[in-house]
Amino acid sequence: MTAHRTDFIASGGGSLRGEIRVAGDKSISHRSIMLGSIAEGVTEVEGFLEGEDSLATLAAFRAMGVRIDRPSAGRVSVHGVGLHGLRVPAGDLDLGNSGTSMRLLAGLLSGQSFDTRLIGDSSLTRRPMARVADPLRQMGARIDTAEGGRPPLLIHGGAALHGIDYRMPVASAQVKSSLLLAGLYAEGTTTVVEPAPTRDHTERMLSGFGYKVRREGSLAQLQGGGRLVAADIQVPADISSAAFFLVAASIARGSDVLLKDVGINPTRTGVIGILRLMGASIEVVSERESGGEPVADLRVRGAALRGIEIPVDLVPLAIDEFPVLFVAAACAEGETLLRGAEELRVKESDRIEVMASGLRALGVELETFPDGIRICGRASLAGGSVDSCGDHRIAMAFSVASLRATDAITISDCANVATSFPGFRPLAASVGLTVEERSVPSGTGP
Ligand code: S3P
Repeated sequence: MTAHRTDFIASGGGSLRGEIRVAGDKSISHRSIMLGSIAEGVTEVEGFLEGEDSLATLAAFRAMGVRIDRPSAGRVSVHGVGLHGLRVPAGDLDLGNSGTSMRLLAGLLSGQSFDTRLIGDSSLTRRPMARVADPLRQMGARIDTAEGGRPPLLIHGGAALHGIDYRMPVASAQVKSSLLLAGLYAEGTTTVVEPAPTRDHTERMLSGFGYKVRREGSLAQLQGGGRLVAADIQVPADISSAAFFLVAASIARGSDVLLKDVGINPTRTGVIGILRLMGASIEVVSERESGGEPVADLRVRGAALRGIEIPVDLVPLAIDEFPVLFVAAACAEGETLLRGAEELRVKESDRIEVMASGLRALGVELETFPDGIRICGRASLAGGSVDSCGDHRIAMAFSVASLRATDAITISDCANVATSFPGFRPLAASVGLTVEERSVPSGTGP
């Protein structure tokens, strides 16, 4: 059988109009399954992201004996088994492309009585896991990694965990969450201090499940040995998915789009801050609270963007949005400079290099640094062929770029868009961004 690759072809030009709700928040969806599974009682989730990443988490907990029903689209009922009710899975837990699943599960599974082996796809297998394995070992976990601290991870059960006081060297919500989840099973107090604010969905959801988490400035702290009580969860629309439309409507003249029910947790809104500094017109409408998370509708209209120096403190708050922010920079007047973002090199792809080579193919002048990029904006982009290297956010970022391209952009290796944003193409088409899909034999040039 010939292996096939999915390419996108995004026609050049156009503008966006209409009202949409983008896919559910990926980070919150993962956590709803994890915490729901180890809680007591049934957790009803609404707005769950039916993407491959969060479904990998769901499958992992089913494999550990948790009954999880999916009565209709976006609805999930998790029949919690309590902190000590998970059962040994029959085989490896395959987490596909999902770094969040692997890093958070590493913490949670360090506290179990049985062994687990965590595997992933070729992208995940290249990603660093020592950032969780090292501090978890300090807590008493027994974890084997492949060479260089990469997956697969073999987590030995039966380890006696104890709390630690950990100052994270990188601003990572995945590391923080992994240690807090291990801390549930540890004797004593687990304290994590972050060098800069990162998303706090784990802390919020633990509190929502009745587990006491002390939070003070950059510190998050909990005691082991408590219990979680099931709670209903409304998953907001993912601001990281909304970001594609925030940029699309900003760069396409005459656009006017309303994005409904978007999660605007202040640890996630860096993209709005950065776009506003660039001159974007984004209005936050009907702010409200839903299930412990702030939510709003975002109205975005076309605007003349200008290049900026991106404030370093906004970097962790917009960490997943840089591929599409680079597209905004390429369409802005003047130069945009990003530094302090070396983390982009260890995401689903090296997002600095992969974006740089795609933007160059579209005629953009730029310079890369180990921790960032300088992009010279242009009035319009050329059409051409770019490679997403299997990175979902890069595939969608170049789809957005087509709005300012003089010709079509062909983007190769786009199947992973389904990891975070199933239904991206039809939803984009409904507001005027047309992206065709083509299946080609692997190995064919773009
Ligand atoms: C996530 C945290 C971020 C982000 C990822 C999801 C999470 O990773 O890039 O897509 O859900 O905790 P880091 O915390 O490692 O930066």
